[in-house]
Amino acid sequence: VTVYVPRDAGALSLGAEAVAKAIAVEAESRQLDVRIVRNGSRGLYWLEPMVEVQTARGRVAYGPVQWTDVAALFDADFLHGGEDVLALGTTEDLPWLKSQQRLTFARVGVVDPRSLDDYLAHGGYRGLAAALRMEPAAIVQSVTDAGLRGRGGAAFPTGIKWNTCLGAGADQKYIVCNADEGDSGTFSDRMLMEGDPFALIEGMTIAALAVGATRGYIYLRVEYPHAQRALQAAIDAANAAGYLGDALCGSGKAFQLEVRMAAGAYICGEETSLLESLEGKRGQVRFKPPLPAIQGLFGKPTIINNVITLATVPIILERGAAFYRDYGTGRSRGSLPLQLAGNIKRAGLVERAFGVTLRELIEDYGGGTASGRPVRAVQVGGPLGAYIPASQLDTPIDYEAFAAIGGMVGHGGVVVFDDSVDMAAQARFAMEFCAIESCGKCTPCRIGSTRGVEVIDRIRAGDAAERERHEALLRDLCQTMVAGSLCALGGMAPFPVLSALDHFHEDFETGRPAVL
Ligand code: NAI
Ligand code: SF4
Repeated sequence: VTVYVPRDAGALSLGAEAVAKAIAVEAESRQLDVRIVRNGSRGLYWLEPMVEVQTARGRVAYGPVQWTDVAALFDADFLHGGEDVLALGTTEDLPWLKSQQRLTFARVGVVDPRSLDDYLAHGGYRGLAAALRMEPAAIVQSVTDAGLRGRGGAAFPTGIKWNTCLGAGADQKYIVCNADEGDSGTFSDRMLMEGDPFALIEGMTIAALAVGATRGYIYLRVEYPHAQRALQAAIDAANAAGYLGDALCGSGKAFQLEVRMAAGAYICGEETSLLESLEGKRGQVRFKPPLPAIQGLFGKPTIINNVITLATVPIILERGAAFYRDYGTGRSRGSLPLQLAGNIKRAGLVERAFGVTLRELIEDYGGGTASGRPVRAVQVGGPLGAYIPASQLDTPIDYEAFAAIGGMVGHGGVVVFDDSVDMAAQARFAMEFCAIESCGKCTPCRIGSTRGVEVIDRIRAGDAAERERHEALLRDLCQTMVAGSLCALGGMAPFPVLSALDHFHEDFETGRPAVL
């Protein structure tokens, strides 16, 4: 009997390792033949560790399982899908999963992330096979036609980026995966790399064929050791089987791929800072232009894309641009893996086509706040994203719809706050975060963020006249940071601050300092 116990970092933090050991020990003592597969997470974090058993009626789920529950599960004959208090039914029929549109995450939680055979059995490397039959320009055109936009946050059209790199003449080009996932409340990159690392590797290989690159690097967040192990195992397996290396699938084309551990700084997720760090220098932002697609790593044309962007490429090549483009709304095509976090009852990963509303995500999937109190604010798009008030929860997840309300979809992180949140403290946090993480290259961000913290404190502590004076100063400062900062850190940190001022002004009028 095959039993699945996730090795995803989230599940591990909730005791999955002890559960896997307990199942092995119990099976041995009962002399039962059990094969334990360490899969990725299905993304239902409130049910982790979620154990699944392969039965005649499909995979049956149990959760959340602790090692102390394991003997009772065996007693209830869970190996044959027996009923138990922890039984959840067949995995595919869980409403949370059934209503999703998993394209990029189709295999996450399903396959054994260390097994190339399992990847191939679930449609893996069909995208690469298609790409190997195409001219580079046709691959780029397919990604352009699919309407894929950068999932790291900036939503720049991937095909246009690739086309710039394809057109740049050079003796050497690089593919760099930005896996320095730093946004608060986000974990889709990590889940993908831990649960389906071959998808990222395949996507990078296709990108290499598309632009004529022969070397690639995954710049991986240093706090992701489990992803590092999963990626390394997959890279080794792909090299051994000829899916990476000197003769890609016998085609005569080469692509060498390596994982590099990041420097542990938020700013190293900014693409030019990342390049500096990858070159062994201090992670400081470079001026653009030149764009990395023309002059990137070691001065050579370089594609830098986020994990989810690259891991989505194989399905576009396999199923065709029209298939992918068919999902979504307006100019936001395809699907987005959204990450529900913060004060929410059911946290986890929801992949849906663009167009799903924040309310559906928070209420239908998330089940409302964990505290049971009303939702007051939602921060979408990481620490640089605006705070959205409860009155705007019907906004669809769509890059343009979010821009229209002064927000951003970003990397798809959704962090929920209930009515006990102090929004002035959150505004102060945004400025303080910027002050701590600033690379120091430009003045509006380096000095402005520190002054911003001080001015918010004065607004909170002052009387009405002082408040008015300092609020005008804060708005002025925010404008300077937006217009004058060299990169998105200083340029976007004002958005959560301004949204807090605009939507939650009463929190700045309490006369007490804003300390989190
Ligand atoms: P950007 O708008 O400057 O650039 C977007 C991308 O398009 C870059 O890779 C740029 O090089 C490329 N590009 C622009 N014009 C091009 C052209 N003509 N040809 C080829 N390539 C071209 O945005 P940036 O600064 O790269 O990213 C900012 C975003 O990062 C923010 O919106 C935020 O959402 C996100 N972010 C994500 C984090 C995460 O953990 N995922 C953390 C922090 C920020
Ligand atoms: Fe560095 Fe901040 Fe300027 Fe970005 S905005 S270049 S992080 S100082």
